[in-house]
Parts: sequence; C-alpha cells; structure tokens
Amino acid sequence: MGGRVPSTSNAPRYRPGRHLLQIPGPTNVPDRVLRAIDNPTIDHRGPEFGTLGRETLARLKRVFRTTGPVVIYPASGTGAWEAALVNTLSPGDRVLMCRTGWFATLWKEMAERLGLEPLFVETDWRRGADTAGIGAALAADPQHRIKAVCVVHNETSTGCTSRIDEVRAAIDAAHHPALLLVDTISSLASIDYRHDEWGVDVTVAGSQKGLMLPPGLSFNAISEKALAASAKARLPRSYWDWQAMLKPNAEGYFPFTPSTNLLYGLAAALDMLFEEGLENVFARHDRHAEATRRAVRAWGLEVQCAEPRHYSSSLTAVRLPEGHSADALRALILERFNMSLGNGLGILKDRVFRIGHLGNFGDLELIGTLGGVEMGLAAAGVPHQPGGVQAALAYLSQMP
Ligand SMILES: Cc1ncc(COP(=O)(O)O)c(C=O)c1O
Repeated sequence: MGGRVPSTSNAPRYRPGRHLLQIPGPTNVPDRVLRAIDNPTIDHRGPEFGTLGRETLARLKRVFRTTGPVVIYPASGTGAWEAALVNTLSPGDRVLMCRTGWFATLWKEMAERLGLEPLFVETDWRRGADTAGIGAALAADPQHRIKAVCVVHNETSTGCTSRIDEVRAAIDAAHHPALLLVDTISSLASIDYRHDEWGVDVTVAGSQKGLMLPPGLSFNAISEKALAASAKARLPRSYWDWQAMLKPNAEGYFPFTPSTNLLYGLAAALDMLFEEGLENVFARHDRHAEATRRAVRAWGLEVQCAEPRHYSSSLTAVRLPEGHSADALRALILERFNMSLGNGLGILKDRVFRIGHLGNFGDLELIGTLGGVEMGLAAAGVPHQPGGVQAALAYLSQMP
C-alpha cells in the first residue's frame, strides 16, 4: 500500500505504490484476510461465535498436522512460548535448549526467569539444532533430570531450519522421556511440519508469518503426553492454563474475551491455505527460497546458513562483506525503494540483512524484492556483481 511517511522525514508526505514488507514477519496481509477482519464484532458468548470457534479450532489442526487439541491465545508468539513452559514444567526442572540464534536465546532467558534450569547446546548461528549434541546431553542424563527438549524449528535470526525429525530420533535413541517442545513461529504454514508424526509434545506458533494474519494470535498444539504432564506441572499459571482453555474450547468458546476479528481473519487464511493445498504452499516457499539463494550467489554474497540441509524456506539472511553496514543498506533501501528488510539480531547486528519470502507471496513480488536489494547494493556501494535478479528470473521461469 502507499503510505504516509513519518513526519520527521524530509521525503514527500505520500509515497505512491505498495510498501514491500519483506521482513520475515509480520508478513503482507492479503486483502481477503483484511476484508474478513473488517466485519462487525459479535457476542463472543453467542451462538454465532460458538460455530466460528468450533470450526476454526477443528480446521486449525490440519495445519499443525495433529489430531490433538490446539489452543489459541490473544497474544504474540512470546506468550505461547510461556504457555508451553508453564503448563508442562515445575520449578527447578532442567530443560535442554539449543542456541541456534537470537530467538532460541530469548526462549532460554524466559526459561531462566520462570525458575527453570536451561542447559544450552551451542551452535555457530550458521546451522540448525545440533542433534548429535542433543543426543549426547540426553545420554549423559541417566536419571532423567532433563524434563524437556526445546528447539526453534526455523531460527528467524539466521535463516536456518532445524530437523525436528532428527531431534525426535536423537531423543528416542537415548531412550529419554523428555518432552519435545518446538517453536514454529516462522515456519508454520510455510515449511513442512508434522506435530503428530514427529512426536512433538507442544508446538508453539504465531499468527503474523505463514498464517498471513496481523500479529496478535498465538498457538499451542498439545500432545496427550504434554496434557498428562500438565496435570502434575507446578509452575504457577493462570491466564495460560490449558485446562481453563480446553473446557470452553470444546463448545467453541474461550475462558476470556477472544480476538473475535482476528479469528474471522484466521478462518479466511485457513480457507486460502487449503484452497492452495499445504503441499503447494510448502513447494512455493521452497522455490522462492532457492531463487533467492541463486540471486545471493550471483551477487557474490554469502548466505548466513552454511549447511544446505538447514536452508530456511521462509527467509534468507545475507552476510555483508567486512566493513559494510547491513543497517545502512536497509535504511537506504527503505528510503529509496519503500521496502523493509529484516535487521541483524544479537551477534549478527549490522552484519546481515534478512529477506522474508514467506506468507502471501508470488513470483513477481519476489522479483520486485530482489530488484530492490540489487538496486540498493549498487546505490550503497556494497561490492557485488550484478545479475542476481537475472539468476532468480532464470530459475523461476524454468520451474513450474
Ligand atoms: C522463531 C521466533 N520465535 C519467537 C518469536 C517471538 O514472537 P513474538 O514477537 O510474536 O512474540 C519470533 C518473532 O519473530 C520468532 O521469529
């Protein structure tokens, strides 16, 4: 959309053309979802809401690939992180986490604040979770003091995707009873994910990325084992309590006032995902990610993810040559071309920029995005070769 420019800027007050929101979430909200949200709010205890709630909660399971319950919180993804921990764990419990990047680090800090004892398996922020390291830590815990393994499926700060099937296999190989908690905030509905098949106990998700909604909803998909653990877990909880939520959810209602209009949007987003077909959604994201990496290589730049098996399909983090500022490049691209790119976080601050290619996104939007980056590299004087957009075009035009 064209937009008002902040009043501190010297730029004209109105910018024609659409702003390209190519951060790795929140993503561009499709018009169909916006139109659905733009309906009168209804009585959340009335019959019409009960139908919306029942149908939406049931249809949502398909996206998580689970037959178990999924609960919805009117909260950002951070709330669903907290819900996953406080419903399943007790003060002083050990949790095994993997420092894949910035978001894994934040989840670990939350665990500490809640009175848990996190153990951190390190990575160099250039690959997904170290499954061998997780397996070794579990094997070294014969008394089963570790109660949960927590992994970020798609580390949004690095563009590296962890292999949850391999994490599951490592837990099984160690014959360890720990719960498996997985953050899919930047992967759900854009990268293949299977809650039941991979034996995940709690899946954490958010509305503002693959689900194509504004920020404001978050989710826990819950296994039977996690539900059983919640009956004994002793961390204090009230707002996040699954039991309080699941009872009214059975009839489509909530224990408090739900985000009625965001739920209209969610129903529309689910329609769109199922009309396209989840397999096609994943293939589209894989294809856009490959086209983006081809552009990056043609520019002579480096992708932050150093392990091809862990390449993310929802975003690509691009390293800048030494001595060049990624933040200055992003600022120039925003000012000149009206496009927002993701910033570097934590140890990657100013070292990388992140291209989000997830959500409601087509080939021509990708070409526009890559065109903005290529023009920005030239205008900012970042050493590179031209031809990245051409490489992406060549790939996209040969692939159906
Ligand atoms: C992987 C991941 N986990 C957690 C979060 C935190 O979610 P929120 O900002 O919605 O609270 C984010 C946000 O971008 C994320 O990408």
